[in-house]
Amino acid sequence: MRQPSLTSTASYQALQSHAKDAQQWQMRDLFAQDPQRFERLSSEAAGLFLDYSKNRLDGRTLALLANLARERGVEKLRDAMFNGDKINLTEHRAVLHTALRAPKDKQITVDGQDITADVHSVLARIRTFSDAVRNGQWLGHTGKEITDIVNIGIGGSDLGPKMVCLALRQFAHPRLSMHFVSNVDGHDMDAALSRVNPETTLFIIASKTFTTAETMMNANTARQWFLKNASEAALAKHFVAVSTNVEAIKKFGIDPDNMFPFWDWVGGRYSVWSAIGLPVALCAGYGYFADFLAGAHALDEHFRTAPIEENLPMILALVGFWNREFLGCPSVSIAPYHQDLNRFPAYLQQLEMESNGKRVTRAGDTIADYETCPVIWGDVGTNGQHAYFQLLHQGTDVTPMDFIAALRPAHEFQNHHAALLANCFAQSEAFMKGKTADEVRADLAGQDPAEIERLVPHKTFPGNRPSNTILMEYLTPATLGALIALYEHKTFVQGALWDVNSFDQWGVELGKVLAKKIEAELNGEAQPAQHDGSTNGLIARAKAAV
Ligand code: F6P
Repeated sequence: MRQPSLTSTASYQALQSHAKDAQQWQMRDLFAQDPQRFERLSSEAAGLFLDYSKNRLDGRTLALLANLARERGVEKLRDAMFNGDKINLTEHRAVLHTALRAPKDKQITVDGQDITADVHSVLARIRTFSDAVRNGQWLGHTGKEITDIVNIGIGGSDLGPKMVCLALRQFAHPRLSMHFVSNVDGHDMDAALSRVNPETTLFIIASKTFTTAETMMNANTARQWFLKNASEAALAKHFVAVSTNVEAIKKFGIDPDNMFPFWDWVGGRYSVWSAIGLPVALCAGYGYFADFLAGAHALDEHFRTAPIEENLPMILALVGFWNREFLGCPSVSIAPYHQDLNRFPAYLQQLEMESNGKRVTRAGDTIADYETCPVIWGDVGTNGQHAYFQLLHQGTDVTPMDFIAALRPAHEFQNHHAALLANCFAQSEAFMKGKTADEVRADLAGQDPAEIERLVPHKTFPGNRPSNTILMEYLTPATLGALIALYEHKTFVQGALWDVNSFDQWGVELGKVLAKKIEAELNGEAQPAQHDGSTNGLIARAKAAV
């Protein structure tokens, strides 16, 4: 269904004219004028606290953004998603990752099928299997306990489970080491296999489609490596699969009893809540996996029911939309001040950029007069401070930041935690306040006046740079679940505002097809095709090096 173009709507135009004023605002002044700004522009739900007061906006901005969300039917689309309507229009699929974390008694049907029952029957199998591996009942083919789990998958079949296993490090089973092989680069597989013993290793082949070239190549290599010292019959104790494709799994030689299914209404980048999360259940235990799902469900309920003005994902999305559309910010930097969240920025890259990195509307019209998804990137604090924060403070682009921190640590080094939080809060303060030329002069007072004037422009910080801060008490399975769900729904809301289909990813196909052709040429299985001069030259150099 074709909506009127975003920029033609009354609420978008109201925002455009409001933005002419807002672009002149200094956040320092906004804080000085309103002592209640922090209380007014912060909100809390599902164990997460969001401070969005350090943005170049005010109550009117938010009211206008909420109007836009209403005019663009964001709440209607949200309800359609939760309801199981086929909102993934190019693949004719429902979008129901929320059903993966819904309680047993919640009735959700897709094409007449009760999917909650299906979800809970797979969860029961995950529980039985993960308990057996963890308590030493599931043994390798020579009777030894499993010590290493190697998850083979890529994209959503890798980034989610890997990020979550790292984030829940403190809950990890002491006997089990987790490994994640995703890259078709043989160095990745080589590094994992060099650390494990085939007699005590469990491989999880994780692929929604079970056709992804990298995963299939890695799975075959792992299988051959394993079969060097074991029989085909031994595979059943060491290889399990997570997929929607039973036929392909059988062909690969995995017993369907060792397959954990999921469904086409789960997008790859939204799949960590499904059996793709099996490494999490193995590593942290089923109980914590269930807490992780419950944390996400709590955020789902908040997203589904809270009014826009108090709704965390709506607010995060609207603020991001404002920064992108009206303040012209081309990227967003994610800064978790928590070492265990060090893969969170990479996870969000796929979530947001694969979802909303689109240039046509849901009706297929080219988007010509507004921007869609910004580049998402980042790394943990305080490391980033000593690398790229220079550009964030004094570069020519304005990059909004999301700071994420836990108020309490899971370690005993209290002084480290105070230092960590101090840095986190100091950075957002510095981005907001900046440092004026007069402040620099005052710092340098007493030095040679000519030298002071020479240094002033270099030492001045423009400030007025936007950031959000998300706080939780501890990083637990539940707060992590809520945090991921927060960003999933933020992504959903922004996709709805930009009128893009957030649930397909056709943009990854062209490179895949061309890579297949070139691979055959490099292996001498096909005559070199006519590529462009650069590609021909690169292929020739690679062939000459063989
Ligand atoms: O190529 C992109 C993609 O389809 C992602 O969306 C997906 O998460 C990844 O590849 C892996 O896909 P699969 O789980 O089917 O192997």
